[in-house]
Amino acid sequence: MELEQISQDGAETLKGAAGAAKKVFVKTYGCQMNVYDSQRMSDALAADGYVATSTMEDADLVLLNTCHIREKAAEKVYSEIGRIRELKAERARNGSEMVIGVAGCVAQAEGREIIRRAPAVDLVIGPQTYHRLPEALKKVRGGEKVVETEYALEDKFDHLPEPRRAEIISRGVTAFLTVQEGCDKFCTFCVVPYTRGSEVSRPVAQIVAEAERLAAAGVREVTLLGQNVNAWHGEGPDGNEWGLGRLLVRLAEIPGIARLRYTTSHPRDMDDELIAAHRDLPSLMPYLHLPVQAGSDRILKAMNRKHTAADYLRLIERIRAARPDIAMSGDFIVGFPGETDEDFEATLELVREVNYAQAFSFKYSSRPGTPGTEMKDHVAEEVKDERLQRLQALLNEQQTTFIEGLVGKTVETLIEKPGRQPKQIVGRSPWLLPVILDENAGKIGEIVTARITSTGHASLFAERA
Ligand code: SAH
Ligand code: SF4
Ligand code: F3S
Repeated sequence: MELEQISQDGAETLKGAAGAAKKVFVKTYGCQMNVYDSQRMSDALAADGYVATSTMEDADLVLLNTCHIREKAAEKVYSEIGRIRELKAERARNGSEMVIGVAGCVAQAEGREIIRRAPAVDLVIGPQTYHRLPEALKKVRGGEKVVETEYALEDKFDHLPEPRRAEIISRGVTAFLTVQEGCDKFCTFCVVPYTRGSEVSRPVAQIVAEAERLAAAGVREVTLLGQNVNAWHGEGPDGNEWGLGRLLVRLAEIPGIARLRYTTSHPRDMDDELIAAHRDLPSLMPYLHLPVQAGSDRILKAMNRKHTAADYLRLIERIRAARPDIAMSGDFIVGFPGETDEDFEATLELVREVNYAQAFSFKYSSRPGTPGTEMKDHVAEEVKDERLQRLQALLNEQQTTFIEGLVGKTVETLIEKPGRQPKQIVGRSPWLLPVILDENAGKIGEIVTARITSTGHASLFAERA
């Protein structure tokens, strides 16, 4: 699931206090891992004297945390740099400086090429080297153009700055926690194994310490992140090898943490222990994002997903047996090279069988360096458009049925933030759908029982039960 689909403008801005000497503006594209990384970069920069600003115009440092997953996502960065370049030039005319940094997956994939194509950029820094950000900025201030994309595998988690208490509090009662990074699956359409490197799991002690720190600052709901989060494994304090299921059991014991989630999973890594966690842990929310991409075995094979449609359906059956009320979410790609009408029909058929509460679907985008690009029979754009429309119509229908089916039901709602309208408060349902309540329904951080009275556009209206 990507931020692009969640926020309206495809980017999230880290807001903070204004008025200090050095100001940083961070714009985040792509997935939740980038949201988490932007927070960690802000933490590192705060320690270096930077204050976050929500207006690019008065920033001394503009950091774009970028996404390379589809061509459109990657190209967006260059048009954004074009706009920032104007600001930078204006600044220079007024005798002050603006540093432009590109971080994230485009930085890792394109490296120095970014500075060649957009010379206004001062710094390119890949996701595995964020701990070197303050040092890199020092070099930039000394007049150098800096490209930081080389890393050792063990670098990532050992050097990340700890989230600061004040920052955690300012970010609210829900938080992301990265437990795993990178991917060894090499799906033939995907850039992630190249931009994020091979799979690395963060040690149990570090994860528990961070979760405890979040809980102590008032966080009630933690979402564990990883490109392949259910491939996470590590040595537990009992000396045994733990998988994600066991880790969730441990995290559920932390006082204050009432809700747990994890994303994104690969079907191949859903093991028995993890499925059992869905049965045994009331705090593990009954919502699972489990991408399948396609419903045709021929296409799944060409995509190197390493499972069949039947394997996926069987898996969903087992998960639903463990947690009957679980709501399923997924990702789909239409128009992978070689996809015929018949293959596409198989995707629709799989969607009908699973019945998703929510899903993301994309047109295949050919990415440099991935095997998909070299394949024969690329699908025409009009065909992709037409398939995407049909798939989305079906998924929307399922989503509407799911949402409407909640009217009259009572749901446990985590009160999260003030609403957009006066006298409203917004909570989070177990399925991530926002629940809009009267402001007196509960305090932020409280979990209240709410009765759904009606539905809005991808939201629920409710009253306290
Ligand atoms: N690790 C996750 C996916 C990360 S990318 C997983 O394995 O499921 C998020 C989604 O973007 C993918 O699930 C896929 O649906 C989509 N995606 C990835 N590469 C793409 C490409 N080249 N074209 C179109 N969609 C793509
Ligand atoms: Fe990409 Fe596949 Fe890895 Fe997911 S599992 S990040 S789609 S290569
Ligand atoms: Fe995009 Fe990188 Fe995430 S390519 S989806 S930001 S891992």
